[in-house]
Amino acid sequence: MCGIVGYNGSKRAVDILLDGLARLEYRGYDSAGVAIRDKEIEVFKAKGKLTNLKEKLQDKELKGTIGIGHTRWATHGEPSEVNAHPHVSNDGNVTLVHNGIIENYQELIQKLGRHDYKLYSETDTEVLTNIIDYYYKKYKMGPIDAINRTMVRVRGSYAIAVMFKEHPDELWVARKDSPMIIGEAEDGYYVASDVPAILKYTNKVYYIDNLEAACLKKDKVIFYDLNGDEVQKELKEIKWDVSAAEKEGYEHFMIKEINEQPDVVKKTINSFVKEDGIDLSATGLTVEEIKKFKQIYIVACGSAYHVGVCAQYVLEDLTRIPVRVEIASEFRYRKPILDKNGLVIIISQSGETADSLAALREAKNQGVKTLAIVNVVGSSIAREANHVLYTLAGPEIAVATTKAFSTQLIAAYVLAIQMAYVKKKIKDDVYLELLEELKTIPDKIQDILKTLTTKIQRLSSKFAGIKDAFYIGRGLDYAISLEGSLKLKEVSYIHSEAYAAGELKHGTISLIEDGTLVIGIATQEEILEKTISNLVEVKSRGAYVVGVVPKNVDVSKVANYTIEIPETNKYFYPSLTVIPLQLLGYYITVSRGLDVDKPRNLAKSVTVE
Ligand code: F6R
Repeated sequence: MCGIVGYNGSKRAVDILLDGLARLEYRGYDSAGVAIRDKEIEVFKAKGKLTNLKEKLQDKELKGTIGIGHTRWATHGEPSEVNAHPHVSNDGNVTLVHNGIIENYQELIQKLGRHDYKLYSETDTEVLTNIIDYYYKKYKMGPIDAINRTMVRVRGSYAIAVMFKEHPDELWVARKDSPMIIGEAEDGYYVASDVPAILKYTNKVYYIDNLEAACLKKDKVIFYDLNGDEVQKELKEIKWDVSAAEKEGYEHFMIKEINEQPDVVKKTINSFVKEDGIDLSATGLTVEEIKKFKQIYIVACGSAYHVGVCAQYVLEDLTRIPVRVEIASEFRYRKPILDKNGLVIIISQSGETADSLAALREAKNQGVKTLAIVNVVGSSIAREANHVLYTLAGPEIAVATTKAFSTQLIAAYVLAIQMAYVKKKIKDDVYLELLEELKTIPDKIQDILKTLTTKIQRLSSKFAGIKDAFYIGRGLDYAISLEGSLKLKEVSYIHSEAYAAGELKHGTISLIEDGTLVIGIATQEEILEKTISNLVEVKSRGAYVVGVVPKNVDVSKVANYTIEIPETNKYFYPSLTVIPLQLLGYYITVSRGLDVDKPRNLAKSVTVE
């Protein structure tokens, strides 16, 4: 959830580290720090945003070409300069930055206490730094031995970048359950916890596996396993475009990413929908396997979970296979009983979400097939799942997901349609009709962006001061209400709830009073009248009703304001209704003067429990 950048090469390290950290600020941003080595290692840290650190470094002449940097999202210890990384061992022998959590750090504090180590911060990272120092001095067998002994001794998740005082030309890294890549360029080697940090410098990367370490020199990198033996790795190419990680004239990443949706949705559709139908061969999922699945479990967190809720309606309806959708943090601890003929689908943009990864491992432990819908190539979930369906959203920088969500929806549709076809639940004509309609979705999203952006911006300015909002709908409209509500509350800090429209009257309707904003989504023909009745119920209690409906549905009698979207097949409406809801979340937040790309307390990829 924090960000790590490292460099060992021929350029000035401080420039590369600060630039990389700026690109990672979305991962965590309550403090930042760098350690640069020229002759000695110098550490600089600052509380708050990265600009504070930049100011501190303004007049410094830092010529060093090797260094590590970090932006922090506090776990152990409040956000402060003392708790910020890099941390330094007692006598300055080891300097380290860390992402993740060391679970047995209390026990390790006792151990360090017995050996007269003194700690200056409240962080588990400082403990880790001193444990490495302890093993380094005790066994005197060099960095890899000290790192490996530490990896065996600590519990938790970590990606670390380390400099040893006695090894001035080396930068060391290691990881377990926390992402980290190593980039190779002509000028040297780069380390990053996330691709956008180094994409400007190189798209050639090595992936380090769990419990592996690496030593980066200026002209080579050596990988090691837990025994200290060298491991050979293949250099991989990242296909993301550098410009995708830049704002390119947009005020915020969130609005840029909202506007990228027609393009990335189209790319994702085209990667699976070919002239004669859907081709899932890239996922490795075979027709025989699909035929055998008797039960589907979808497990994910946050917005990815909302995709799961949408997918449940579509998959069940089309394939008639029972589908259960679950929040990963619940699934992993409730000892789920899984059908051996089932398929567990994990949905994750980052591919690193700790709970989703744990859910995947639980499914694999039970011998159940897993399929991951993931955006980041080479991420932990992508590497560990039996099958992977990649979404082609490109790098998503804004904390609140938009374009990744839309591509995940496409992945879910493609899977549902193909499974239904293979299981002979839909005939050729329906199959082809669905695919034809799916191909129109990018243009329909574009149409919404073109015709509705200004309208929604105006509407949003009216709601900048509200305290509560409710999103209601039935079926797929309820699923997208969940996402619309999250999109508003996570960036604007306005309390908002999503409710199944028919459930509102069982308690929550008592919260509706004069002027309460209720967004009613009504696209599903079979249950349209029921949803409209629910809107009438809130309207008559004083709610200000905004209806989100297809052009052929008239809610003018009940809605105070109507947002009209193009018509489509009933299954695909979430791809269209989500767009105005994203715009509403974005513009309400902007009119409240908040930093929409970096909402308080949130980080992009949640690699801790
Ligand atoms: C909300 C949001 C989060 C993520 C969730 C899962 O806008 O982005 O709710 O959807 O943290 O993240 P991934 O998809 O990376 O597993």
